[in-house]
Amino acid sequence: MRAMVCTSYGPPEVLQLQEVPRPEPRAKEIRVGVRATSVSFGDLMVRNFKAVTPSQFNMPLLFWVFARLYSGFTKPRTSILGSEFAGVVESAGKAVTTFKPGDEVFGYLGQGMGADAEYLCMPEDGCVARKPANLTFEEAAVAPYGAIMALELLRNARIQPGQRVLVLGASGGIGSAAVQLARHHFGARVTGVCSTAGLELVRSLGADRVVDYTKEDFTRSGETYALVFDVLGRSSFARCRSSLEPGGRYLLASFKGKQLLQMLWTRLTGADLRVICALAPGSAESLRTVKELLESGKLKSVVGRRFRLEQLAEAHRWAESGPKRGHVAISVA
Ligand SMILES: NC(=O)c1ccc[n+]([C@@H]2O[C@H](COP(=O)([O-])OP(=O)(O)OC[C@H]3O[C@@H](n4cnc5c(N)ncnc54)[C@H](OP(=O)(O)O)[C@@H]3O)[C@@H](O)[C@H]2O)c1
Repeated sequence: MRAMVCTSYGPPEVLQLQEVPRPEPRAKEIRVGVRATSVSFGDLMVRNFKAVTPSQFNMPLLFWVFARLYSGFTKPRTSILGSEFAGVVESAGKAVTTFKPGDEVFGYLGQGMGADAEYLCMPEDGCVARKPANLTFEEAAVAPYGAIMALELLRNARIQPGQRVLVLGASGGIGSAAVQLARHHFGARVTGVCSTAGLELVRSLGADRVVDYTKEDFTRSGETYALVFDVLGRSSFARCRSSLEPGGRYLLASFKGKQLLQMLWTRLTGADLRVICALAPGSAESLRTVKELLESGKLKSVVGRRFRLEQLAEAHRWAESGPKRGHVAISVA
């Protein structure tokens, strides 16, 4: 089969089209004919992980050490990237009961990756579900990562209907889903923070208000929120305190040891304002919720740009080249 193989760590050119053996499904696995995949934050990070220093890594040092050991020293252990996919079940192992050949599915492979290829195999009880009927393969392929992460991370904040929520990084993979989920799933009033290029997108996703971080500092507006959700961890608790209502939560998807200590401190002292550093495992149950939200229209999947599989290097270059402008979809078939 054709696959884009990450031949070494480095710039997008390390991604090369190669013929590789088609994977064979084990007894409880399905083989999916991939129709579309995506380029997300994880692809860009893994492709060039050798150059990512602990300080550039948005997680504590120990996480970086584990990631470095897992990722491989001279070249990525995971040579086929692509963590999200949509496609058609092409064959199923003899013990598979949930899916059958011909089923249209979408899913999330996480750091195991493998979707930048014509076929992939995965366990039937992995993070895979039937594709939302109202979405194209491209739209379905770019949805799982951001939506699953946003859903699982936001659940930690216990948002109540009518509360005010601020999302930092609102035009990104996780942030664009967080804006929609906070608004349409949890019933909050949402402010999205991003750079100028993403303002229209974030407004179209349902944000009641948008803030351009290149022109305005949201901490000086006098507005307060029940939740400040920072996806990239570029803000600080000290700066955000004055933007939190009594009982407010400061939720981080990216954090260092300092924020972990702040979480511990605010919890142990019973402080009114809480810091929450959260991890999203990425479960099949979350994907099924995401499917329902996509089908009900509460969640939209926004494809910013399409590329073909053999143009993957170009797609990575485009994704790295500037502000976020919607998701990058890769057509495989
Ligand atoms: N906790 C977990 O379980 C978990 C799971 C997955 C990922 N993560 C973390 O999530 C992060 C990646 O998120 P993602 O996939 O959404 O990334 P992404 O798609 O690259 O989006 C990043 C967003 O942040 C915006 N941004 C950059 N600087 C900003 C600032 N100063 N203020 C506000 N917004 C800013 C960008 O907007 P512009 O382009 O317009 O600047 C962009 O919209 C990584 O740090 C990763 O480690 C955590």
